[in-house]
Amino acid sequence: MEAREMRAGIYWVGAVDWDRRLFDALIPLPDGTSYNSYLIQGSEKTVLIDTVDPKMQDVLTNHLNQLEIGKIDYLILNHAEQDHSGTTPRLLTEYPETKVITNPRCKDMLIDLLMIPEKKFITIEEKETLSLGNRTLEFIYTPWVHWPETMSTYLREEKILFTCDFFGSHLATTNLFATDEWEAIQAAKRYFAEIMMPFRTSIQNNLKKLNNYAIDIIAPSHGPVYDKPESIIKAYSSWVFDAPRNIVVLPYTSMHGSTHKMVAYLVEALARRGVTVKQFDLTATDSGKLAMALVDAGTVVFGTPTVLAGAHPNAVYAAFLTNALRPKLKFTSIIGSYGWGSRTVEQITALLSSLKAEMLEPVLCKGFPRETDFQALDNLAATIADKHKENGFTD
Ligand code: FEO
Repeated sequence: MEAREMRAGIYWVGAVDWDRRLFDALIPLPDGTSYNSYLIQGSEKTVLIDTVDPKMQDVLTNHLNQLEIGKIDYLILNHAEQDHSGTTPRLLTEYPETKVITNPRCKDMLIDLLMIPEKKFITIEEKETLSLGNRTLEFIYTPWVHWPETMSTYLREEKILFTCDFFGSHLATTNLFATDEWEAIQAAKRYFAEIMMPFRTSIQNNLKKLNNYAIDIIAPSHGPVYDKPESIIKAYSSWVFDAPRNIVVLPYTSMHGSTHKMVAYLVEALARRGVTVKQFDLTATDSGKLAMALVDAGTVVFGTPTVLAGAHPNAVYAAFLTNALRPKLKFTSIIGSYGWGSRTVEQITALLSSLKAEMLEPVLCKGFPRETDFQALDNLAATIADKHKENGFTD
């Protein structure tokens, strides 16, 4: 992809990584990603906002060469994580006069992570401004999207907000702007679920703060740029402010079919009562899709057989992940089969300690489920449907 002019004198100079399939050695990237870097030319100063992942540093420097950028006065780093900051050492070699602008916390992290010399930094405070001559940048602290030091940079004249991970998505595309709104919001929801969901309260505060700014363009450092920012702001508001919906997420695994029989029965029992169910076979599912389903769910039910006296490792991972992502759901439960004894309920319950959710009576059965077990599953389905209604969870 070539460098692209977004507005007069404002360029996208990032890199599209079509083939990356894993982020942080953990998060699946079915659609690749991009590392967006932006060049802004003012009448007196030139700045670059964020860099790219170091494995694609040649792409960024080639873009700068194509644009014949002989001098970069300031490199603004909104976030210390290496997918945005990692090309800084190379840039400081090629542009030795460049100063790095960031907040004090981010500066400390950049020194720790990239060993950038302290003399290269200029630190800014919340709401401080930087004049480029005919253009003005304002720095807005937006902590915990995704690390504690994250901030955004606002270009006042064009009303462009550069947000780094905030509003980002792992989506490789030839389109600079989010022309396919549905595709962009789905990718952003996956990104939110995997990376931002644990910080919902901080995101609420950051969204309230952004209400004070007129925004024409949101330019994150992953995925497409929003020239109609209402869609992504509305989506984020819904994910962090709205009540959970009338949805049960049911991640499960089964070894000999007993737990699967229980899962199938519970899914039918819930559907009969008007509850939407999203069922995930943990031997095959994409953890990103499971995380996306958790964004809106009112309840999660883990389905697991007993292995070596406890929960199946797949269910342990699903419970650990759910606890780490801290979705807004209000209820949990456990179903599954065992042979001669089980500590599954104690294990899974202990793994969910960060959730503010009520554990509904689990249903564990010995061997293959029988009539009393199906009755217990019906009772669980009725309880979930009632709880969702009482709490006003809508479809
Ligand atoms: Fe895209 Fe938190 O880095």
